[in-house]
Amino acid sequence: MTIFVINGPNLNLLGMREPEIYGDETLDDIAAMLDDHARDLGYEIDFRQSNHEGHLVDWLHEAAASGAKSVLLNAGALTHVSIALYDAIKAINIPVIEVHLSNPIAREDFREKSFVGKAAKGTISGFGSLSYKLALDAAASL
Ligand code: DQA
Repeated sequence: MTIFVINGPNLNLLGMREPEIYGDETLDDIAAMLDDHARDLGYEIDFRQSNHEGHLVDWLHEAAASGAKSVLLNAGALTHVSIALYDAIKAINIPVIEVHLSNPIAREDFREKSFVGKAAKGTISGFGSLSYKLALDAAASL
C-alpha cells in the first residue's frame, strides 16, 4: 500500500536553502531515507514536490482516488495561506499529516496560522528530516 509524500514551494532547494533553519540534507536525501523506512514498515511511498499550488491540490485528489493509505504534506509557505489546500484536505477521505522541518509557530508571526493544520489529522514539526520519519510512523500506525 502507498503513502503519498507531497512537498510544496521551495522545498526543491533544501540543502542550500537557509541550512541553519532547514538543515543540509537535500529533498532527495529525505526521499531516500523515507523510501528505506517505508519498506521496513511494509509500505511504498510516492514522493513529489511542486512549486505550484494547483499541483498539490491535484495530487491530494489523486492520492485519495488511487486508494493511498494517507498523505504526508509539507506545503511550505502555502501552509499559511492556502484555503484551496484546506478545502482539498477536507474533500478527501484519507488522513493527511502536516509535516514541517522547522517549527513554524516558533518563527515569524505570519507562520502561526496553518490552513493545512486546520484540516489535517495531526502535525509533526520542528525535528528537521526526522519530522518526515515520525510522520511516516504515525501514518503507518493509523
Ligand atoms: C516549512 C515551514 C514553512 O513556514 C516555510 O514556508 C517552508 C518550510 C518547513 O518545513 O519548516 O517553506 O514548511
